[in-house]
Amino acid sequence: MRTRVSAHQVTPDYIAKYTEAYRRLRSLPSSDPRAYMMQANVHCAFCDNAYDENGTAVDYQVHNSWFFFPWHRWYLYFHERILASLIGDDTFALPFWNWDAPGGYTIPPMFDNPNSTLYDTKRNPLHRNPKVVDLDYSFSESNRTPQQQLQVNNSVMYRQMVTAAKTPSLFFGQSYRQGDSPGPGAGTVENTPHGTVHVWTGNPSNPNDEDMGTLYSAARDPIFFAHHGNVDRLWSIWKTLGGRRTDLTDSDYLQATFEFYDENKNLVRVKIADALQTENLRYNYQNVDIPWVRRTTTRSAVATTFSGPGGGPSPAMAGPLKEKIKEKYRDFKKGLKEFKADLKDKMAGRKLEKTLKALVKRPRKVKAADFDEEILVIEGVQVACDEKVKFDVYINLVDVDEDKVGNDVAEYAGSFVNVPHTAMKMAETKKGLTDSRIRKSNFRLGIGDVLADLDIEDDDDFAVTIVPRGKPNIPVSIDDIRLEYE
Ligand code: C2O
Repeated sequence: MRTRVSAHQVTPDYIAKYTEAYRRLRSLPSSDPRAYMMQANVHCAFCDNAYDENGTAVDYQVHNSWFFFPWHRWYLYFHERILASLIGDDTFALPFWNWDAPGGYTIPPMFDNPNSTLYDTKRNPLHRNPKVVDLDYSFSESNRTPQQQLQVNNSVMYRQMVTAAKTPSLFFGQSYRQGDSPGPGAGTVENTPHGTVHVWTGNPSNPNDEDMGTLYSAARDPIFFAHHGNVDRLWSIWKTLGGRRTDLTDSDYLQATFEFYDENKNLVRVKIADALQTENLRYNYQNVDIPWVRRTTTRSAVATTFSGPGGGPSPAMAGPLKEKIKEKYRDFKKGLKEFKADLKDKMAGRKLEKTLKALVKRPRKVKAADFDEEILVIEGVQVACDEKVKFDVYINLVDVDEDKVGNDVAEYAGSFVNVPHTAMKMAETKKGLTDSRIRKSNFRLGIGDVLADLDIEDDDDFAVTIVPRGKPNIPVSIDDIRLEYE
C-alpha cells in the first residue's frame, strides 16, 4: 500500500524524489505518450491534441457528470505510476493539497518555489504564500480575515460534502450514458470547491485564466495533481460520512471504461468498477483532521438582524424571536412569484443577470430526518463554456444585502461553478447541440438540512434567492426551478 500524504507535511526526502520525477517527466521527448504535455493534453478530452497526438478516441466529456470522480481517479493513478517508474521507486505516491483544512490552506510550499520542477509561472501572483485559499472564490479578492476565511471554507465544505450531498447522485453528478449530451450536471464537490480552487489558482491576467483556471491547460500545472488528489480523497471521505453515502451501483456506470497510457507506454483500458476502492489501486490517504465535518456555522442571517452579529444559532430560535422571523418569511414570500422561464425563447431560458428571487411550492413535505432527500433542482442552467461562472443559492434569505452575505449563514444552500473550457468539438449526440459553446446542465442541491435549520420544514413553500457572482452580465440562464425527491 502506498500512502498519499498532505503536500504540506512532506519530508525533504520526499520533495527531492518528487521534483526529480518531475524533472525526468519534463525531459521526456514530446513523442513519448508519458510526456508531461501529452498527459496534460489527455485531460482536455475534446482538445484536438488529445485526438491527433494520442490517437485515443475519447468520445465523451469527463467533467460535469458521474464520470468526474472515477475518470480523475484513474488519471491520477497512471500519472503516479509514471512518476514512480521514472525514478524507479515503486513506493512513490502523489501528495494531496489539503485545502479543506487550515494546515493546508496555502499553495503547498514545494509548488511555490520558482526553482522547482513543480513550479508553474501561470498562477495568480496574488495567491502565492502565505495567501489563504478561498474555497468560495468569486473571481475577486474577498478581503476576509484568515479567521473569517476559515469560517467560510468550513461552511462551503460542510454544505457540499455533508448537507447538500446526502445521496449518490447529488455527490457524483448526473448520469451520462452513450448518446447523451455531454456534461449533464456536476455533483456538489465538482462545482465547488473543485471549481473554485481551479479558478483561484490560475492567473486572471491570462486570456483564459491559464493554467489552472481553464480545463485545457489545467494539468500543465503540477499542482493540478495535488488538487485532484484532494478531490479524490474527498470521494473516500464522503463514503465514511454515513447515511446513504455509498458508491453508485448503476451498471452503465460501473462497466464504463477509459483508456490511458501506463508507465510502460502501453495503452490500457480500465473500468470504473475497479476504481471504487483506492485499496484496489494499492493506495490510501494519510489520515488528517477534517474540521468542516463538525457543524460550526449555522447562524441564520435574519436571526442576526434581531440579535446582533453572532446572534443565536437558528435551531435554538425560540419563542418571540422565532415568531418575528416567521413573520419576516411570510412578508417576504408574499411579494414573490413562482419561477417562469421565457417560453417564447425556450433555448434561452431566463437570463440570470442579477439576483433572482422566486417562490418554490412544495408538493409534499419531507422531514430532513427521513431517508428521503428533498432536492432543489435548478434546471437547464446554460452557460458559455469558456466563461467562469459562479452563482450562490440561498433559501429564505430576507433582510440582508445579497452582495455582502457570505456562505457561512444557515440560509446558504450551495454554489454552482463553471470552470472555463475552450469551446469543445462536440461529438454527435442523439439530442444534438446547436451551439458547442453552450453548456446546459442541471444543478441539484440537497436542501433537507437547510430547511430544518431554518425551521421551515413544515412550510408549504419557501423563497429561493440566486445570486450571480463575479463579473456582471455573464450570460447565464435557467429554464426552471423545481423540487425532486430521492
Ligand atoms: Cu478535469 Cu479539475 O478538472
